[in-house]
Amino acid sequence: MTTPRHFIDLWKLDGATLRLMLDDAHARKTARKGWPQGKVDADAPAKDRVLSMIFQKNSTRTRFSFDAAMRQLGGSAIISTSNDMQLGRGETIEDTAKVLSRMVDAVMIRANSHADVERFAQVSTVPVINGLTDKSHPCQIMADILTIEEHRGPIAGKTIAWVGDGNNVCSSFIHAAPLLGFELKIACPAVYHADLHDLARAESLQGRVSMGTDAKEAVKGADVVVADTWVSMGDTDHDERLAALEPYQVDDKLMDLAAGNGVFLHCLPAHRGEEVTDEVLDGPRSLVWDEAENRIHAQKSVLAWAFGAIG
Ligand code: CP
Ligand code: NVA
Repeated sequence: MTTPRHFIDLWKLDGATLRLMLDDAHARKTARKGWPQGKVDADAPAKDRVLSMIFQKNSTRTRFSFDAAMRQLGGSAIISTSNDMQLGRGETIEDTAKVLSRMVDAVMIRANSHADVERFAQVSTVPVINGLTDKSHPCQIMADILTIEEHRGPIAGKTIAWVGDGNNVCSSFIHAAPLLGFELKIACPAVYHADLHDLARAESLQGRVSMGTDAKEAVKGADVVVADTWVSMGDTDHDERLAALEPYQVDDKLMDLAAGNGVFLHCLPAHRGEEVTDEVLDGPRSLVWDEAENRIHAQKSVLAWAFGAIG
């Protein structure tokens, strides 16, 4: 049996594969401009395919974008929260993976623990896609890069400033940096620093990734400024986080330090008035709505790749 094409972390893939998916996403998006959302792409690369989605945590964008993506690719999706499944009553990850492998063509999981997604993939005979874990959010970064390239051209050589918690989304940016050739400057409080293994891996791949505590320093001259919530799903130290992260709010003054045509990204949901002000989120430098839409386009190409339709 050949190993399924899992999409669990960007660092497990190579730059050429990510490039292939991004190019496919750009082309697919352009080709269907003006079409109704439910119309199927001309090549229908997921025709007759079924994706199952399992959610252990809340979601708006991931849930709707994967469902819409499957429809646009000519396939369909089955969605469930883990609590509605026997998984929520103690059936093992491995047994669930074996059963779903007999019923669907791919599985997307949003899990509390990254290790659970790895365990699922170990046993699954169909592709497994990480829809966010405590450790990473690779689908989000594919959509973010698609958005940056649409507005500012090739990602290679760009500088991205990550401001705030060194969290799961930050990790996926670290994974992507050496593979796609952009510079990543992280500014976070020392207590909420980015994953040190991820940083070490990026360094070993000659990635240009740095981490400090000064938001202004990171944003100075950056092409893209990225923020995310200070309290991710599963975090329990809400008050401590708000106190430590307060100096990392992205406001217009901070954005003014970015490159002249610097843009702002946020995976959403945003906590307005915490990590970002209304003026930035709703302002002319914000690309967050395109970014949200691009979850569909980027994931269609991840799915097309997983199904073997591209690459
Ligand atoms: N950005 C993102 O993954 O959003 P959801 O939590 O709504 O899926
Ligand atoms: N870092 C956030 C991202 C939400 C899409 C979280 O994990 O809650």
